[in-house]
Amino acid sequence: MLNQPITLTQYLIEERRRFPLASGSFNSVVLAVALACKALSRKVAYGVLAGLHGQAGSVNVQGESQYKLDVLANEQFLQGLQWGGNVRGMLSEEMEDPWLAKDTDVAAGDYLLAFDPLDGSSNIDVNLSVGSIFSVLRAPEGGRSIRVEDFLQPGARQVAAGYALYGPSTMFVLTVGRGTHGFTLNPELGEFLLTHPDLRVPEESQEFAINASNSRFWEPPIRRYVEECLAGRNGVREKDFNMRWIASMVADAHRILTRGGVFMYPRDTKDPAQSGRLRLLYECNPIGLLIEQAGGRASSGEAPILQIAPSGPHQRIGFVFGSKQEVERIERYHRERVDEVEPDTPLFNRRGLFRSMG
Ligand code: F6P
Repeated sequence: MLNQPITLTQYLIEERRRFPLASGSFNSVVLAVALACKALSRKVAYGVLAGLHGQAGSVNVQGESQYKLDVLANEQFLQGLQWGGNVRGMLSEEMEDPWLAKDTDVAAGDYLLAFDPLDGSSNIDVNLSVGSIFSVLRAPEGGRSIRVEDFLQPGARQVAAGYALYGPSTMFVLTVGRGTHGFTLNPELGEFLLTHPDLRVPEESQEFAINASNSRFWEPPIRRYVEECLAGRNGVREKDFNMRWIASMVADAHRILTRGGVFMYPRDTKDPAQSGRLRLLYECNPIGLLIEQAGGRASSGEAPILQIAPSGPHQRIGFVFGSKQEVERIERYHRERVDEVEPDTPLFNRRGLFRSMG
């Protein structure tokens, strides 16, 4: 026997053996998502030659300008999954209303899929990493037609979650509830191969990721955490920290799954109408499950992300994830109500680097 890594298909078949009554429908969903990601990987790799750089001239439900690749990626997911008979509904960042199987198809499909077809799309035109994120939920039993409310399940109920990262190599990172595993695309074979089994997020780390241009809008617990990191070995943490921000959550999550660290896109005061930037159902929940299955922690800052009952299909929320001890520290800072006792720390005072403008 050659000592070759197993393929994604082999991995899924092995997992299915644990469920003797499984029909194969679940595996078909994951493989259809993986196929859509492979197709997208090709488009991304052709870059400007594919004619897919630039904006599409349209705006999505979130009021964000769509890139041509956003639109194409969304179509790729829809086309790849709507004919297989395995999903009864699909919710996408790019569509106000979910795609729902027709009433005549109600018996078909045990699953719902929520996805962000192209995460980090502002990176496309500058040739930096982008990704796709997906979450698989169970459809309600009884074969009735699907309603939007059926997607509003807490993240702990996901049966699978994953992402594809279109970086220097294309990777597919997956959890079906038994660890988080990374597969690398062999472009010659067109197969994802299990190259990173059982990824583990180191419990501690010295790296953090946040868009510091928002610092004047941060709430005190986040300001305190970042302030302490910046103070380095002379501050209360007694060690120096490093900062990274790729502006693609998939790419930041991948770094954290590989070598630890913490990612923060917290609730802030920038837009009082929003309670965060990232979307709960197709960004935070799937990344949260992948991180927790790898021994890390995922939180809104105040509560475990996977326990939150969603209030709407495109709900936004503050999101903090990564090395367990760091996320727990940030949660503790929220509990300690530092807003009442905020220290007049040098970096946030009137002449400080991150002075509040509010
Ligand atoms: O829309 C999601 C996203 O692109 C994430 O992938 C990324 O972490 C974040 O937004 C970047 O936000 P900003 O442009 O504020 O840095």
